[in-house]
Amino acid sequence: MAFVVTENCIKCKFTDCVDVCPVDCFHVGPNFLVIDPDECIDCTLCEPECPANAIFAEDELPEGQEIFAELNAELSKKWPSITEVQDAMPDADEWNGKEGKLQLLEK
Ligand code: SF4
Ligand code: F3S
Repeated sequence: MAFVVTENCIKCKFTDCVDVCPVDCFHVGPNFLVIDPDECIDCTLCEPECPANAIFAEDELPEGQEIFAELNAELSKKWPSITEVQDAMPDADEWNGKEGKLQLLEK
């Protein structure tokens, strides 16, 4: 199993999650972060850190978010590692909780 970053991270990207990961398995794209499922050790530390509640265990993904398991696996191989907190996206607070953000994902 692994933990998975889901849709509500898109256009928020608060990055609080990367600070607590003991194995540095977060990877960063233009407006989204992902977890490398081959590196994640299921420590659970990142889940409560996300202000957007975007991180879930793979076997507890909310309905409609299942595709993000594949997206995390795919994009983590392509995007660079991120280990330090950065500024959130502009207007992150406004985007937090908006629906339909999957179509805004920049790869
Ligand atoms: Fe990293 Fe632990 Fe979160 Fe996996 S569950 S991404 S190991 S902080
Ligand atoms: Fe995204 Fe939440 Fe981390 S918004 S960058 S998963 S803290």
